[in-house]
Amino acid sequence: MTLKKRVAVLISGRGSNLLSLLVACSDPAFPAEIVLVISNEPAAGGLKHGVDFKVPTLVCAQRDFKTKEAHEAKLNQVLLHHRVDYILLAGYMRILSPAFVNRWPFRILNIHPSLLPDYPGLDTHARVLADGATMHGCTVHFVDGTVDGGPVIEQRAVPVMPHDTEETLAARVLAVEHELYPEVLRELAEGKVIQRFRTH
Ligand code: GRF
Repeated sequence: MTLKKRVAVLISGRGSNLLSLLVACSDPAFPAEIVLVISNEPAAGGLKHGVDFKVPTLVCAQRDFKTKEAHEAKLNQVLLHHRVDYILLAGYMRILSPAFVNRWPFRILNIHPSLLPDYPGLDTHARVLADGATMHGCTVHFVDGTVDGGPVIEQRAVPVMPHDTEETLAARVLAVEHELYPEVLRELAEGKVIQRFRTH
C-alpha cells in the first residue's frame, strides 16, 4: 500500500473547508491524511473540527512573535516536524512571505472564493454583485509570493441569480468550495496535478 500524503491545514476562522477536507480524508481509501491543523487565531471555530477528528491542533499566532520571520520560522519547524507533504490554506488570513513560500514550491495550496484572476483579495461576493456579473465561483491554486496570484489548479463556476444577496451568493460558492478542495487534494495526492503542470 502506498503511503498517504501528509497534509497540514492552516485556518483563521470557522473552518468549513477544513471540515470538508477532514470528512474526505476520513475515508480509509483517500490518498491523503490531515496530520495537523494550525490556526493563526486562538478563537478560530475551526479548531474544534480538528479536535473532533482527533487531529493535532496548534495555535500559532503571528502576534505572539516579535517578527514575521520568527513566526514563519516556527511554522516551518512545526511543518517539518510533522513531515508534511502539502500545506492547504483554508481561510488563512495571513500573507505568507516569498521566503516561506519558496521553501515549499508547489506544496502550498489556497482556495479562493472567485474565478481568479478576477476578484483577488477580500469581499469577492460583494464586488461580484456590485459589478452585475452573471458568473462567479471558486479557485484552488498554488501559492506563490503574490496575493491570490499563483498558478491555478482548478476552478468551478456558479451562476449569480437575479435576487442574490451577498449571503445567498456566498453560500452557493461555499457549497462548491466544499466539493472542489477535497477533489483537488485527491488529484494532488495521486500525483495527477503535478503531472498536468509538467505536460502543459
Ligand atoms: C472561504 O470562502 C475560502 O474560499 C476563503 O475563506 C473562506 C474560508 O471559509 N479563502 P471557511 O473558514 O473554510 O469556512
